[in-house]
Amino acid sequence: MLRRTFFAQTLSLALASFFTRQTFAQHAAHSAHAAHPMPEMAGMPEMGSTVMGQPTGAGLAPMDALPVGAPLPALRTLANTSREPGVFRATLVAHPVPHQWLAGAPTLVWQYDPQTQHPAPGSTEPAIGPLIDVREGDTVEIRFINHLPQPSTIHWHGLPVPPDQDGNPADPVAPGASRLYRFTLPRGSAGTYWYHPHPHMMTAEQVFRGLAGPFIVRAADDPLQGWPERHLFFTDLKLAQDGTIAPNETLDWMNGREGQFVLLNGAHQPRIEVVEDERWRVWNGCNARYLKLTLGANQRFSQVGTDGGLLAQPRDGLTELLLAPGERAELIVPVGSVAHQGSLSAAAYDRGKMALSHGSLPPDPARVLAQVHFAAPAGSPAAAGVRRPLPAQLRRVPALGTPVAQKTVVFTEAMEMDALPMQHDAPGATPMTAHAALPRGMKFMINGAVFDPSQVMLTSRRDEVEQWSLENRTDMDHPFHLHGTQFQVLARELNGINTPEPFLAWRDTVNLQSGETVRIATLQSMTGERMFHCHILEHEDLGMMATLKVI
Ligand code: C2O
Ligand code: CU
Ligand code: CU
Repeated sequence: MLRRTFFAQTLSLALASFFTRQTFAQHAAHSAHAAHPMPEMAGMPEMGSTVMGQPTGAGLAPMDALPVGAPLPALRTLANTSREPGVFRATLVAHPVPHQWLAGAPTLVWQYDPQTQHPAPGSTEPAIGPLIDVREGDTVEIRFINHLPQPSTIHWHGLPVPPDQDGNPADPVAPGASRLYRFTLPRGSAGTYWYHPHPHMMTAEQVFRGLAGPFIVRAADDPLQGWPERHLFFTDLKLAQDGTIAPNETLDWMNGREGQFVLLNGAHQPRIEVVEDERWRVWNGCNARYLKLTLGANQRFSQVGTDGGLLAQPRDGLTELLLAPGERAELIVPVGSVAHQGSLSAAAYDRGKMALSHGSLPPDPARVLAQVHFAAPAGSPAAAGVRRPLPAQLRRVPALGTPVAQKTVVFTEAMEMDALPMQHDAPGATPMTAHAALPRGMKFMINGAVFDPSQVMLTSRRDEVEQWSLENRTDMDHPFHLHGTQFQVLARELNGINTPEPFLAWRDTVNLQSGETVRIATLQSMTGERMFHCHILEHEDLGMMATLKVI
């Protein structure tokens, strides 16, 4: 495995420089050449605003700028304008909307709204896109209107939609233009999905400005139908003192962007009142933040679902669950018989983030995401210690079958001292926000190449089960995501130890730890071009993405 070491002569040096040991030795003589800042860096934000990867506040809104403890906002639901049975029809407009986070300094967020409901200026409505809530078998028709200053698309993350309806970067919708997305959701597709933009090299910015929303597909025979359901959609916010959404700095491009705030349904550390056993659907809609969810060491919960819907059996007695960027989970959270105050937190997690100099950043410290108050009403069965019965068998999750083809996907990173700028600014990118501070010459690659829209990297045959070996040969975690299907993890291998996956589950995103190889079984059922990529959106934009052609 490649080891990296770090070198920075001065803070004004183009600080993105990181080297493998070998490369460093070879290029030591060249390093002086990099000491004069590249002209592209002229408009870069002051590097001093970031220390050890944690936004410190220089230029950023202070941590107490957003109040905590407000009741958890409910997600908005997108209304169905169709009267036809089995048809869900609506319009989504993506547009800039002023949002009042800081008194006297409105923030222009980019937001999905139903066309008919522009929120009033200064609204405190959460910036999460409205929930699309449909059933297996439904035909979904969404008219997308792009009122952004950039091209955009809507990608239906995890859903089995035809490739030409999936918002690929090759199918942009120009500013001011619109298009219809249309697809039918097959039986067996019930699960917890989301939607977000996917334009070439502008995905990270469009998502961190606020464009993302939840999508639920329900089964007629859902065994948890009667359960009270709570929706928890996490996003990340890096808010400047002047109320603007801060642009990405070099460190954000390297490690993926993490702001000073994690928002839950658009709110900062909201308060959740649990009065009975609940089913939670949780989305990690952050650009890059890993959420190792915990309710505390003594508050056990069960996992009943992954990205692509229910597990075969509940996984009981959990105290932690890691959700990488892009991943979702369904949980069962018991209220318990004793009223108490708790919290939903992200436990400390080390994903191997790079420092601008001198090695790696420390692990992300634990942080509170929400206050949770557990209290079953006196006299209720829960207060008497009776739990809502959870079926031992949730559904059948059959193994995908014997693979007839093998593929290998290798994630690597590299620094090319003498590289020409690897990215030209994409047409329509907002100047000095989208691509300022791009780490020039730093490469995040799949199978040795950065994304080339004109190239097909892998080819699969429709309806053939394949085994993919996903290898992370970098020093940082990367969440792998494949479009158009749900796959099954077979085994994970780390430090020479191969661990067969203990249960079958449908996923479209799986974390690859540094040095880890994850084997999956996967099948594509429609012909056309599919994307696969790292779901740290900055890495995706930098080219850790490739095209799978299904024939
Ligand atoms: Cu959620 Cu290709 O993305
Ligand atoms: Cu996707
Ligand atoms: Cu990555």
